[in-house]
Amino acid sequence: MKTGIDDIAFYTPRYYMDLKNLAQSYGVDPQKFAIGLEQEKMAVMPPNEDIITMAANAAEALFKNCDKSKISPIIFASESFVDQAKSGAIHIKTLLGLPEDCMAFDIKQACCGGTYALLTAQAFVHMNPEREVLVICSDHALYPAGSPAEATQGAAAVAMIIKEDPRLLHISPDYVTLLDDQMDFWRPSYCKTACVDGKLSIKTYLKLFEQSIERYSQSNSLDDLSAILLHLPYNGISRKVLNVLRKNGKDLDFKDTIDSSKIYSRMIGNSYTASLYLGFISLMDHAEIPLEKLGFYSYGSGSTAVFFNGRINQLRTNQEKNTAHLEGRIEVDHEQYTEWHEWHCSFFPGRIDSNLFSGKHFLEGIENRKRIYSRRTQKCKEATKSFQLHRAG
Ligand code: HMG
Repeated sequence: MKTGIDDIAFYTPRYYMDLKNLAQSYGVDPQKFAIGLEQEKMAVMPPNEDIITMAANAAEALFKNCDKSKISPIIFASESFVDQAKSGAIHIKTLLGLPEDCMAFDIKQACCGGTYALLTAQAFVHMNPEREVLVICSDHALYPAGSPAEATQGAAAVAMIIKEDPRLLHISPDYVTLLDDQMDFWRPSYCKTACVDGKLSIKTYLKLFEQSIERYSQSNSLDDLSAILLHLPYNGISRKVLNVLRKNGKDLDFKDTIDSSKIYSRMIGNSYTASLYLGFISLMDHAEIPLEKLGFYSYGSGSTAVFFNGRINQLRTNQEKNTAHLEGRIEVDHEQYTEWHEWHCSFFPGRIDSNLFSGKHFLEGIENRKRIYSRRTQKCKEATKSFQLHRAG
């Protein structure tokens, strides 16, 4: 049976910060972010959005082409969960109006969680070929203000439909998995921001990449791949990956396609579980060569890695819509970003400004420690947009 990704879409918040401004605020050379980290902008999460609303907004884009009654389970992958007990997948099910008999649960293993969700979804489809599984990866990368990791923040969600005979990508059951117990990146339950040993995280990421391709090459050939997709915590890490590939004489084979996969993450920043799949969308929207068999390197701190491959069935590009979404975002200055960063870092944040811009699904408020989600009507959306445009001048 052939299973894999039938359709895919991403969502990122409607606000961003230019990293030149972050550099200026800290007296850092802007070239460190633009050339060293290869990042230009980072997505900024307003108080009326979170991983749940991003997930629902990403999934909404898939429903024009699928039968909602067939969806079960929803598998939600994140490492920035907003609740320790209730699954985010239940909130998403309600926002999307999916059937009451739909199973819904969450998966966590740092940035690798999205790939574990994808592989679990494939197993579900093998057991129930009539079902379609909704996999959503959604994350808000939040680090302490003033830390070296701050410039690698970001936020985005990627939603995918996994089914039998998928239109987009057939995923091979033949994959490499690795586990190396490390404390390179973690977030204790009492912390809103991640703790990170930056140098160790890069070292482990690269070590597992090298081991992944070595193991993959024992029964497959890298020559058969038209591209390798990477987890992109920041785009500059791809230079180090190319150095590893150079040892096998393969760096030039993959450089151009890696560049095409980095276009959206340069504008968004790290989206943890969603990052690898955001890179896949970016590649499909910008590749200059025909895409056939693709390798995917999924890394999750802690640490685990999966290297899998898939074959493109029918390419799906949405470049115009995706670019319009990114270009339509509103820039925030350092002061506004700091206010919202503090809001997200607080365990008891204040009221939410009802005039903030968002996708269709948004967070209306938090009352008695319960998050209240809502759906925006067309009328309300237009009023908010004109307010925002007026405010942005
Ligand atoms: P840092 O230590 O401040 O940066 O933080 P640096 O001094 O290493 O500089 C970064 C690069 O900029 C270097 O390039 C510099 O040379 C260059 P490289 O040597 O690496 O090629 N540079 C400049 N270039 C041009 N002009 C200049 C200039 N100055 C410096 N003036 C670090 C960097 C990534 C460590 C930090 O941002 C961080 O800790 N980020 C978070 C952790 C992270 O992203 N780790 C990546 C691997 S782990 C991972 O992917 C998992 C993760 O997604 C989470 C999960 O799985 O759950 C994070």
